[in-house]
Amino acid sequence: MKNLLSGLLSLLLICACAHNAKVETPHSLLPVPQDIQTSDGAFTLCKGTKLYINVAGEEKNAITNAFAAWNGLLEPTAEECGTDCIAMEVCGSVENISSPEGYSIDVTEEKISVRATSAAGLFYAAQTLLQLADEKNNIPVCTITDEPQFAYRGLMLDVSRHFFGKEFVKKQIDAMAHFKMNRLHLHLTDAAGWRIEIKKYPRLTEFAAWRSPAIWKDWWFGDRKYVEEGSEGAYGGYYTQEDIKELVAYAAERYITIIPEIEMPAHSEETLTAYPELSCTHEPYKQADFCVGNEKTFEFLENVLTEVIELFPSEYIHIGGDEAGKASWPHCPLCQKRMKDEGLQNVDELQSYLIQRVEKFVNSKGRQIIGWDEILDGGLAPNATVMSWRGTEGGIAAVESGHKAIMTPGGYCYLDSYQDAPHTQPMAFGPYMPLEKVYSYNPRAEIDSAKAELIYGIQGNLWVEYIPTEELVEYMIYPRILAIAEIGWSNPANRDYAAFKERAIKATDYLRSKGYNAFDIANEFGQRKEAQTPVEHLATAGSITYAEEAPYSDNYNAGGNNALIDGICGGWTYTDKKWQGFIKNGVDVTIDLGEEKGINSVSADFMQMCIPDVWLPAKVTISLSDDGNTFRDIAQIEHTVVRDEGLSFKNYGWNGNEKGRYVRFRAECGPQRGWLFTDEIIVK
Ligand code: ACM
Repeated sequence: MKNLLSGLLSLLLICACAHNAKVETPHSLLPVPQDIQTSDGAFTLCKGTKLYINVAGEEKNAITNAFAAWNGLLEPTAEECGTDCIAMEVCGSVENISSPEGYSIDVTEEKISVRATSAAGLFYAAQTLLQLADEKNNIPVCTITDEPQFAYRGLMLDVSRHFFGKEFVKKQIDAMAHFKMNRLHLHLTDAAGWRIEIKKYPRLTEFAAWRSPAIWKDWWFGDRKYVEEGSEGAYGGYYTQEDIKELVAYAAERYITIIPEIEMPAHSEETLTAYPELSCTHEPYKQADFCVGNEKTFEFLENVLTEVIELFPSEYIHIGGDEAGKASWPHCPLCQKRMKDEGLQNVDELQSYLIQRVEKFVNSKGRQIIGWDEILDGGLAPNATVMSWRGTEGGIAAVESGHKAIMTPGGYCYLDSYQDAPHTQPMAFGPYMPLEKVYSYNPRAEIDSAKAELIYGIQGNLWVEYIPTEELVEYMIYPRILAIAEIGWSNPANRDYAAFKERAIKATDYLRSKGYNAFDIANEFGQRKEAQTPVEHLATAGSITYAEEAPYSDNYNAGGNNALIDGICGGWTYTDKKWQGFIKNGVDVTIDLGEEKGINSVSADFMQMCIPDVWLPAKVTISLSDDGNTFRDIAQIEHTVVRDEGLSFKNYGWNGNEKGRYVRFRAECGPQRGWLFTDEIIVK
């Protein structure tokens, strides 16, 4: 009787499944697909819906596991299925799809048919279906044809400055897969700690992986000492080789390749303190760069890379290459001998010698190297791929010389920058870079179409100097990595920020529901209000001259001579091309209003951000003149400049009732010297 009842009940349930619900169809897919056509009706997934996958083994497991959210509903079947079924098939070809990661989906009320030319395509189709389903598991009737723009869609996580354990890394891999990202670049070694077990060099993990204090800022601005593993107060950690295997396998099941980065020749203080004989002077705590003249350096690097290559099956091994000081090389007899023997003209060529030699070794193991864009200096290694971070120039130069490039320009892809008005945010390393700014990036812009194919992809980088906790890591990554995911996957013709933001808000809700500490993009504070609308004032119709000894910097010219009287005010960052920067002798400008005018106020904003050496002025003097020769001071504003954290703004202004044709505005630096930045001298 009980069996009969439950049989009847399940029949009813099946009937309920077959009787499909009417659902709203505006999709919230992120990344937005290449093409989607929706109609009325839906396929309703319910208990007993069959799942047919025509691949076997690990590939089949990966796709079955991708549907884990529907465990208890889907019933895997070995037979090709008819109705009430999701059929996932790898075929020889799929119309309008050229990428192995592409797929087509056909949803009818009876069945979902998915086709791809590889299991990766099926995996991404599964992500699309999961995103399409509503809370009652209705999937709108639709057809989708979809494939990525870029083969490489990455996230870099720095696990050196602060260490994050393998479970946390897996959690980020889950989110990456959901948004169709496919490369996780782990920055495993740097001054702040070595993070991977290397059997041949135990001091790297017994010692160079540990420090005190835990917070990078306190350590870096303190004594920068390493401590023994297990000693009191030791902070740090590393992935054992077993951890790495587990992570690599976990990522692979989600079609994500982990790319390890082993830094060389610089950012290696931890290594050169554990093994001081590898530096030029053999002194611990003194050197960041390997000695390139010493054969032992190559023996070490090759031994380390041999173990790394065995652990990571990735085609690419990242060998760093950034920010080498190269300071000890000119004084080191071994480096000098190397330069002489190899006919190297300068230290850039010496670095290039190291990179090229390491590339040969890595190539001999069947792998390729990626390096930060400094590997272009002194001659690019023949097969290297360049990761362009100091802007886009390195990537462009790489593809122009026939190399592949991965674009990670700091101004768009560095997720350690402020994502909202700085005063509303935890302290960050880089300037204001909201979701919209990230989304505005096009990796193939400025690149000749014949070379654009060599742009291999895009990556968001999270450096964690100021990010000590897992919560903060997630806060900085999400939702901005969604913009990277969409740039990496979606056709630029389908990209629209307003629509993306709507979808990003939904995706952020999803992430939060899964326990990710995503930034609340729905309630962002937004751009500095002064920057939102131009300001009309007396000087905008005038002209301006700069004192010869106080020119603005070419790098921060804000558009040139009229920048301070163009009515355009700057935003939250001096890098937005609206703030004019002065590095030599402060600001000293004279505005000609064209004729004598009644003047009631003169003012200008300045900003302070001490880390990049940007300071408020110590003194501002405002003067007026009728003839441009004889000036009378009408205001002197003094300010005691003190170092602080974060970003602040200050208005230096005068109000009163005067007449004049010429307004002279001078701003003097405090004892710190450094940069002054102002955006507009407003005369009313
Ligand atoms: C870097 O940000 N130094 C690659």
